[in-house]
Amino acid sequence: MSAASLKERHAAAARALESVGQPHVLRYYDELGEADRAALVGQIESIDWPELARLIASHVQSKPTFTLPAKIAPAPWYPNIPPANKAAHYKKARDLGEKLIREGKVAAFTVAGGQGTRLGWDAPKGTYPATPIRGVSLFGSMAEYIRKTQKKYSARVPWYIMTSTANDADTRVYFEKNNYLGLDPKDVMMFPQAMMPAVDMKSGKVLLESKSSMALSPNGHGGSLKALWAGGAIADMKKRGIEHISYTQVDNPIVKVIDPQFIGLHAIDRCEMSSKMLPKREPLEKLGNFCLVDGRMTVIEYSNLPDDLAHEKLPSGELRFRAGSIAIHAIRVDFVESLNTRPGGFALPFNRAEKKVPCLHHETGAAVKPEKVNAVKLETFVFDALPMCERSIIYETDRVDEFAPIKNADASPIESSVDSPWTSKLGQTERAARWLEAQGVKVARRADGRVDAVIEIGQLTAIEASDMKGLDLPKEVPAGSRLLL
Ligand code: UD1
Repeated sequence: MSAASLKERHAAAARALESVGQPHVLRYYDELGEADRAALVGQIESIDWPELARLIASHVQSKPTFTLPAKIAPAPWYPNIPPANKAAHYKKARDLGEKLIREGKVAAFTVAGGQGTRLGWDAPKGTYPATPIRGVSLFGSMAEYIRKTQKKYSARVPWYIMTSTANDADTRVYFEKNNYLGLDPKDVMMFPQAMMPAVDMKSGKVLLESKSSMALSPNGHGGSLKALWAGGAIADMKKRGIEHISYTQVDNPIVKVIDPQFIGLHAIDRCEMSSKMLPKREPLEKLGNFCLVDGRMTVIEYSNLPDDLAHEKLPSGELRFRAGSIAIHAIRVDFVESLNTRPGGFALPFNRAEKKVPCLHHETGAAVKPEKVNAVKLETFVFDALPMCERSIIYETDRVDEFAPIKNADASPIESSVDSPWTSKLGQTERAARWLEAQGVKVARRADGRVDAVIEIGQLTAIEASDMKGLDLPKEVPAGSRLLL
C-alpha cells in the first residue's frame, strides 16, 4: 500500500466519519505507526456508515419497539415420531436425504463467529473440550460426525465454518495443528463474517477499544447469509454441485451436523429454508417461537411473545405456541444466492443487545472496564430470513438426541448450571445410555433417573441410535463406571 493511497483513504474515511458525527474514531490517528493507521482505515472502510447512523438513531438513541403482528398463529411441524398416515412420506424423505448426501449435494455449515464470552474460554469456542471422557473439542466432535457421514454414505461432505475477524486466525491454527481433525483440508473452508462497532449507550458514539481500533464485534449469525456469499462459500458450493446447506451452531456437541431425515423433509417439500424445533419445556423457556404471520414462517423472540399467548393451552393441555427454535436450519444454496443477487440487496432487521464493552474513555483516552452495561451491540439473526421464503417446514427433534449445548460456564453449586459443560456431559451420557438401553444393555441409574456412570459414544462409532446395531457391546454399564465406545 503506497503512502499516498493511504493518505487518500484516510481522507475519505475522515469525510465518511464527519458526515455521520463520528470523527473521534480517528482522534489518535497521528499517534499511530503506519501498520496501525492502515488497519484502522481498513476497519472504517468496512462499515456502512450511513446505515450505522440510521441504526444508532433507531436502536441506540431510541429503543426499537416490537409490534405483534395482527395475524399470528402457531406454525405447524413434522413431529419427531412419524404419525401413521405420514410414515410413507417420512420414509420417502429420509431416502431422498440419504440420496442427496450420497450424491455430494449437502454441505455442513457451522456458525462459529460468536465471542463465547459467557463460557469464559479464551480461544475460539469450537476448540473447547466437550465430550465426557476423551475431552474431544466441539469442532472435533463435529468433524467426527462428518467423517462418519462420509463413511456411511461413501460421500464427500465439505464443511464450511463461519469465523469472525476476532477468531479466524486462531481457528485456522487450531485446524492446522490438529491435522484438520482427520478431514481432508480441501473439504474444510473458513471465512470470516462482518463486524459492527459497539456504540456508547448514552452518547451514540462508536466506542474505541484502543487508539488503533474500534470496539468491533461480529454482526450476529444473520451475517452468515451475506458472509457465505462474500466469503466465496456459495461459489465453492456451486462448483461442487452442493444444493443444500445444513446450518448448525458451534455450541452443541451432539447436534446432527447433517440429518438425512430433516434434509429430506426440507427437500421433498421444495423449501428454501427450514428449521428444527424443540417443544418448549415451559411457556417462558428462552427459545424463539415458530409462528405463521400472514402465512409466512416467522420466529418471534421469547421476549416479544406476550405472556398470555406464551401460556395459552390447547384443549389437549399442550402449549399452543410450543415450537421453540434451536437454531438448526436447512438452507438451499440458490436461496442464499438469490438473496445476495436481488436488485438492491437484502437486509435482515437489526436487534439491540445491551453489553459491557471495555473501551477508551471518550475524553481522557484512559482504558475503561465498565461495571454496568455501557454499550449497544447490533446483531442480525439468521431466522429473520424465514419470512422471505415461499416454502419452509419445521421438523421436531428430540432434546436428549440432539440438544446438549455449552453456552455458559459451570455454576456453583454445579446442579444449578444451565447449558454448561457439566449439563452437556450429562446430556451426552444420557443419550449414550438411551442408545445402549435400546440395544438391551443394562445401564445403572440413580434413584432420580440420572445415569450413574459416564458414557461416551464417539461420533465415529455412532451418530444415530441405529448405528449401534451389530456393535460389540457390554451387557451392563455398572454404577460408577466409565465406558468409552
Ligand atoms: C441461540 C438462539 C436461540 C436458540 C439457541 C439454541 C438467537 C438470537 N438465539 O441463542 O433462539 O434457542 O441459540 O442453542 O439466535 N454466532 C456467530 N456470529 C455472531 C453471533 C453468534 O457465528 O455474530 C454463532 C455463535 O458462534 C454460536 C451461535 O451463533 O454458534 C449462537 O450464538 P449466541 O448469540 O450465543 O446465541 P444463543 O444465545 O446461544
